Order: sequence, then C-alpha cells, then structure tokens
Amino acid sequence: MGRRSEGFPDRFLWGSATASYQVEGSVNDAGRGPSIWDTFSHTPGKVANHDTGDVADDFFRRYRDDVQLMNGLGIQAFRFSVAWPRVFPTGGGMPNPQGLDFYLRLVEELHAHGIEPFCTLYHWDMPQALQDRGGWESRDTAYRLAEYAGYVAGKLSAVGVKHFFTMNEIRTFVELGYGNGTHAPGLKVGRKRLAQLNHHALLGHGLSVQSIRAHAVGDVQVGVAENPIAPVPVTPSGDDIAAARTAMREENASYLTAILEGVYTDRYLAGLGVDAPHFTAEEMRIISTPLDVLGLNFYTSTYVRASHSPASYETLALPADFPHMASSWLTVSPECVHWGPRLVHECWRPKAIYITENGCSADDGLNANGECLDTGRIMYLRNCLSQLEHALAHGAPVQGYFVWSLLDNFEWADGYGKRFGIVHVDFKTQKRTPKLSARFYQKVIEGNGKNL
Ligand code: NOJ
Repeated sequence: MGRRSEGFPDRFLWGSATASYQVEGSVNDAGRGPSIWDTFSHTPGKVANHDTGDVADDFFRRYRDDVQLMNGLGIQAFRFSVAWPRVFPTGGGMPNPQGLDFYLRLVEELHAHGIEPFCTLYHWDMPQALQDRGGWESRDTAYRLAEYAGYVAGKLSAVGVKHFFTMNEIRTFVELGYGNGTHAPGLKVGRKRLAQLNHHALLGHGLSVQSIRAHAVGDVQVGVAENPIAPVPVTPSGDDIAAARTAMREENASYLTAILEGVYTDRYLAGLGVDAPHFTAEEMRIISTPLDVLGLNFYTSTYVRASHSPASYETLALPADFPHMASSWLTVSPECVHWGPRLVHECWRPKAIYITENGCSADDGLNANGECLDTGRIMYLRNCLSQLEHALAHGAPVQGYFVWSLLDNFEWADGYGKRFGIVHVDFKTQKRTPKLSARFYQKVIEGNGKNL
C-alpha cells in the first residue's frame, strides 16, 4: 500500500458543521411544522435543565452574521442540515415555499463569501406528523424521506449545492431514539423492533440517494454521514490491526457495512436470531446504492486486540480513569481520526471521505477580559488533526474536515450545558465570541494543516 508523505493535500477543504434543530430556533416561523425534537424537549425530564431548541442560536435570523464570522475565520465549507418540517410541515404533501426559502438564502450567503455548502437532509428533526404514524417503525417513512430529499436536492442543486448527505448518524438516532430512549422520540422498543426500524432507516438512506440523483441539477456528490465505531488496535502488531479491521466490519454491521456491502453480516444475523430484521434482496440492493462520498463523524475510539476465541477480536473495557472531555462519553482518544478513516478505506475503498464531524465539549466560560481560553479543545483538535495526517499517509482519500461545531448549541439531551463550539454563544444575549480554538483553527487553515 503506497504511503504518501505526511501533511494535507493542497485542495483539502476546511469546514465547520451545525444541524438545524441545534442552532436555528424560530420553530414556529415561516410555516414550520413541529418536529419530534420539539415534542421531546418540551416533555418534562427529557432534556437537561428543561432546555429546548425554541431559540437555540437564533441562526434562522442571524445566519448572515454567522456566515460572516466563518468568513473571518477563513472557513472554506459549511455543513448544515435542512429541517424537514420547515419544508414539509407534516412530512409530505405540498412543500412550504417559505421553509425552503431560508435554505436558498443561506446558500446564497455562503456562496457570496466563497464558502462551499454541504447539505445534510436528515439530522434527526423528523416531522412529528410522521412519528404519529410510526416514525422509523413505519416502512413508509423511508419513502417520505426520499421524496423530501429529492425535492430539496433538486432545489438546492439548482443554486449550486454540490454535496448532499442523506442522513446523519443512523446509529445514534436508532439506538438513542428507539433503543434507550434518551433522544427523541424517546422510545424503548426492544431488540426485534429496533432491528426492523434500523432496516427501514437504511432503506430511507438508499431510496434518498436514488431520489437525490434523480432530481439533482448538474453533477452532485451524494453520501451519508455516519459515525462508525472506530476500533483502534491496541498495539501496531499485524494481528491486532487485522482484528481492528474485522471489528470495523462487525461493530458497524447494521450501518456502514450494510450500506457499503449490501449485506448484513452472518455474525450480525446470527446474533439476533429470531429478532433479525425482515429484508429482501431488492431492499439490500437499494440500501447499497453506490455513493460518491462518505461522511464520517469521529469523536472517540474503542480499543481492540486479536483474540483466539471465535470472535477474532476483543473490545477492551476502558479503565475508570480514562481521560474524557466535558461530556463523559467523549474520551480523549484522537486515534479514531487515524484508524477510523484508515480502516474504512482498507475495508471498503470509498471514492472520497470527508470527516463531517470532529470536536469536543469543554467547560467553556468567558474570563474577566471576555475571552474564552479553551486550551483543552485546542489540545483535542490538534491531536485529532495530527492523527488524521496518519490516515492520509496510509492512503485514506480524505478530502476535507468539518469541526463540530461552529457555535455552542443545543446538545440534544444535554441541552445547552455542553458546549462544542469554537465560537462561544451567550444564550441570554446571543453574543458570539470566538474562542481561542477558533484562532487556532484559523491558523491551521491558513497553513493548510502543515503547522500543527
Ligand atoms: C454528533 C451529532 O451529529 C451532533 O448533532 C452532536 O451535537 C455531536 N455528535 C456531539 O455530540
């Protein structure tokens, strides 16, 4: 396998990312319908501190200032998501032109500042009306998503959007939304129903890829933004690396592996036994419709080693004192950005990879001088970017990187308590203050990552 020298390619794209419900606010404006996250966040006890996305970063009204802020930092690309209930307030039927108009204006503003828009269609804010009809438990939802995705991609590609992701983190909305109930819609459906609705979500992805291509104007790049488990071989021995490769396929069997191979692995199906999903060969063909790009979100690693049991790999439990950032799940394990893309490349040879999210929460406040000196985040990002260089050196075709997130925002069940932005937001006044990490990122971009 040819190794290129360390460093980032000349046309590497440096971006930042957000998602509609986490930043937009204005949930009752311009004809938007309710989403499952409105319902969930307004249900007492579901979100920390009773926080909701009603106002969030007020991005719906302040997007022009935020685009300017990005421009000032030298950010070259912006990954945003479209709120499905803005465009189809009840999930289907007639589109709401005012809802779409917001995204047309956003794209215009981005282009005016030379920032490349990357659009995600489904970042978890499903129209409540569809949830009332079963959400992902209903196969029909897959078809509704594809209709919506095709419609939006048709309109946004006509104004020059070239990159579309069908969905964000299928694993997360399936396992947290329907498995342990900590995310909307807050259900615990049990193993059998979970496997079946997971299959419907995959089908929704595949149908959407086809629908985006059918409606898009000009050449567009279509993919999914997924968060595979990133198995890191505990030692760089050949056996441990081989074990990590097996773990990459098996630990992601009902997500990336199914999408990129068009099969559920034998081990996955055997593990579920009678709870395995019902599926057809035709559905697997749709699910594995070839992609132009692959979006990968990485925050943490798991550590694996070779094992002589039938499993062939063993995932090691983390010791209690393993370091983490402000979110307890967010371990400081930057190797995910090396081994994640590298093993994805070795297993599936995608044509192009974007790191669609990477970043961390930190306990960020403003000091007496009004500065946020988030050296912890700089440590995290610098380590991750250095690890990403190893992935590139091993041939992973990574074409860009999106820091999560541009702004502190509504961190789902953690509300506003966990801050991920490189820009601090005072949620009382909506004042934006670039943190020290924003200056760090600006310099990294200026030097195209050669100065880490
Ligand atoms: C992944 C999700 O896509 C994003 O919405 C979330 O805020 C970050 N992880 C941090 O948890």
